[in-house]
Amino acid sequence: MGCKRFSALFLIICFVAIIVTMPLVRGDLSYSFPEEMKRGSVIGNIAKDLGLNLGTFSSRKARIDVEGARKRYCDINMNTGDLITSDRIDRESLCGKKPSCVLKIDVVLENPLELHRVSLHVVDVNDNSPRFTENVIEMEIRESAEKGSRFSIGVAHDADIGQNDVQRYILQTNEKFILAVENNKVELALENKLDREKQREISLLLTAIDGGSPQKSGTVVIHVTVLDANDNVPVFSKAVYNASVPENAPPETLVITVSATDADEGVNGDVTYKFGHVSGDDVSLFSIDPKTGQIKLSGVIDYEENNYFEMSVEAKDGLGLTSYAKVLIDVIDSNDNSPAIYLKWLSKLIPENVSPGTEVGVINVHDRDSENNGVIRCSIQQNVPFKLVLSIKNYYSLVTTGQLDRELVSDYNITITATDEGLPPLSSSKMVQLSVGDINDNPPVFEEQSYSAYVSENNKPGSSLCTVSAGDPDWRQNGTVIYSLLPGEVNGASVSSYLSVNGDTGVIHAVRSFDYEQFRSFKVQVMARDNGSPPLSSNVTVSVFISDMNDNSPQILYPAPEGSSFMTELVPKAAHGGSLVSKVIAVDADSGQNAWLSYHIVKATDPGLFSIDLHSGEIRTQRDISESDGMKQNLIVAVKDNGQPSLSATCAMYLLISDNLAEVPELKDISFDEKNSKLTSYLIIALVSVSTFFLTFIIIILGVRFCRRRKPRLMFDGAVAIPGAYLPPNYSDVDCTGTLRSTYNYDAYLTTGSRTSDFKFVSSYNDNTLPADQTLKKSPTDFEDPLLTLETSIERLAYRHGQAPLYCILNITMNNAHKSETN
Ligand SMILES: *[C@@H]1O[C@H](CO)[C@@H](O)[C@H](O)[C@H]1NC(C)=O
Ligand SMILES: *[C@@H]1O[C@H](CO)[C@@H](O)[C@H](O)[C@H]1NC(C)=O
Ligand SMILES: *[C@@H]1O[C@H](CO)[C@@H](O)[C@H](O)[C@H]1NC(C)=O
Ligand SMILES: *[C@@H]1O[C@H](CO)[C@@H](O)[C@H](O)[C@H]1NC(C)=O
Repeated sequence: MGCKRFSALFLIICFVAIIVTMPLVRGDLSYSFPEEMKRGSVIGNIAKDLGLNLGTFSSRKARIDVEGARKRYCDINMNTGDLITSDRIDRESLCGKKPSCVLKIDVVLENPLELHRVSLHVVDVNDNSPRFTENVIEMEIRESAEKGSRFSIGVAHDADIGQNDVQRYILQTNEKFILAVENNKVELALENKLDREKQREISLLLTAIDGGSPQKSGTVVIHVTVLDANDNVPVFSKAVYNASVPENAPPETLVITVSATDADEGVNGDVTYKFGHVSGDDVSLFSIDPKTGQIKLSGVIDYEENNYFEMSVEAKDGLGLTSYAKVLIDVIDSNDNSPAIYLKWLSKLIPENVSPGTEVGVINVHDRDSENNGVIRCSIQQNVPFKLVLSIKNYYSLVTTGQLDRELVSDYNITITATDEGLPPLSSSKMVQLSVGDINDNPPVFEEQSYSAYVSENNKPGSSLCTVSAGDPDWRQNGTVIYSLLPGEVNGASVSSYLSVNGDTGVIHAVRSFDYEQFRSFKVQVMARDNGSPPLSSNVTVSVFISDMNDNSPQILYPAPEGSSFMTELVPKAAHGGSLVSKVIAVDADSGQNAWLSYHIVKATDPGLFSIDLHSGEIRTQRDISESDGMKQNLIVAVKDNGQPSLSATCAMYLLISDNLAEVPELKDISFDEKNSKLTSYLIIALVSVSTFFLTFIIIILGVRFCRRRKPRLMFDGAVAIPGAYLPPNYSDVDCTGTLRSTYNYDAYLTTGSRTSDFKFVSSYNDNTLPADQTLKKSPTDFEDPLLTLETSIERLAYRHGQAPLYCILNITMNNAHKSETN
């Protein structure tokens, strides 16, 4: 017997030792450990059991997540990876009489998020002694009681479970009673008949012993008063009463009514009720009416605190016979807890270029209610590029669903709503703020496609021309725009020698003064670059248009400016009124109005004789020439442009009224008076021979033409070339003034402007190279015949310009030849 008991005890100890020391790893982790361990005691090495080394373990921020806001019993020692107790754990207050006491904790690892369920089995330790409800049990037994009669005694209770619970009862040895224990009922059995007269009172010590190691015990004194008679004990209608009560039911709610009947009459049948043993703190929650047996609520019960009550009820008749029944009360859950939302992790700044599906936060929801009342659905509002994804039970990841654009929406307020499935459902919500971080994804954009700046020539260096402006919606330096000129060339010089741009403001300044006559417009590229890394840029074209100012006076090409040359035109004596006599040719380097020239005669020998066309500069006779008119006529012609203020130039025109150059005495001896060098003589000889050849050639051509048809003027309708070398290099257009039509650089033909009028050849354009004015002025006096004229002209032009003017000379020759023929 003793051996048996010993081996049973040994087995229990072994079993406890095994489950204490070995973590049970079955799917989720599971540990067993005894209650009442010291704070900080090691339960198990969770890092090792999860297969993680300590570094990973702490970098993944392992932590314990106790469901809801309940008390936490454990902690993780990050240095060792041990799961340790953080508080004294009392199995009895945690689980009461439940055969197994399991604490569930969640171990959460981040990155990636992992949740491990850890079950902690709290193993009972024999830390409670058996206890009787009272210290003294008063019993009244009639002396008439038969041998073998049994009398119930309230059992002893031990908060521990299993072997640690009450195992045996030992009754102090005596003559009258023995103990009968069966089916959790303790009864005194009468062995020998009582004799009130011999012994009125009997005191017995009853000891309850548990099976723990070491054993603990509790005692009660049973005080038996021997009475005369009471035959029947109260009998409960049920051995076990099952009842249920909704949580939060108001006080005074009837839970159940127990009833016991006693067959005796009078006092002996008068049953009163009271609670026998009631677990822990639950005494104050229920009350029992001693008369009616109604069990009512006297406090507020919370399913989440305690969902099950077990109590014993005692019925006692007037003479002290008692019986016991059990009352089991189930608490029915009602949906009285709204879901709680816990933000476990949230990305503070989400870069706007994250790909859809990126996890930006983790939330945990929890509802303390059970069953459907604790089933939670979680959602966020529509129309945000985020969604909730259920990752593990009650853990949701907040992930992006689309591309984010900080420039459109930089902040999101996400409202997370959790709703349980109770009736009616409860819900709660939580707002989280998400900020989108900038990425340099927008290049600066100019406000205009291209920019134009207008500036008058002769501007001051440093004056501002225009402002370019570009916007960049990115944040801070990613959106800070810096302007710069792109390198390039304008007219062979670097653009930076023309313009500069203020990097911050985009104001474009002229670096130098511009000259419209040099160039009228140019283009530069301006770049706007942001300060991101890498930077983004865009380019824009800035066209600078220079407008003309009247800064050039008209330049007279023909006749040569006054004083520096000799100029004579022949006017036939027979010229009628309106005949074209000559033409003043002038150009102006400016353009538009500034180059619109007008011609005026400011002084004339005979004011009534010649007039000048205001626009074309053609000089015509105003009336028929009469004999009385002087042979020499001088005109001073002023050429004005139309600028503001207008600029002008003057020239002198010498006219000879004569049919024949020979008549003009001053024109004789044009070259013979000159002191010729040898070179000149050779040149003359050469030119004369060339001219003679050409003359012969022309006479032949003319003869042929005359033979065919007399059509003399045809020859003179053509254009006359003025060699480009005589003109300023760079002229602007002249608006149909009639003065001069030209292209940009004047490699052009000038016409007389009238097909019918005779063309008067310009015998010299530029006289700076003329060696001796005086002799030339005299020379026309000696012109006696066309040939002589020709020779003289050839000599003069060749002398100055070599062979180039020969073509012009031919024209003169033809003119004169024709004149002589028609005359
Ligand atoms: C009362 O409840 C207990 C435990 O829940 C159960 O075993 C028993 O069958 C129930 N009895 C009745 C009558 O419902
Ligand atoms: C988000 O909420 C905060 C505080 O409630 C508020 O100041 C902010 O304007 C909200 N932002 C948006 C985008 O609604
Ligand atoms: C600018 O953009 C870059 C990426 O392009 C980013 O790393 C940086 O944080 C941004 N700067 C600011 C001030 O947002
Ligand atoms: C602007 O011009 C620069 C220099 O030509 C070039 O490197 C850059 O790529 C251009 N940027 C854009 C947006 O076209």
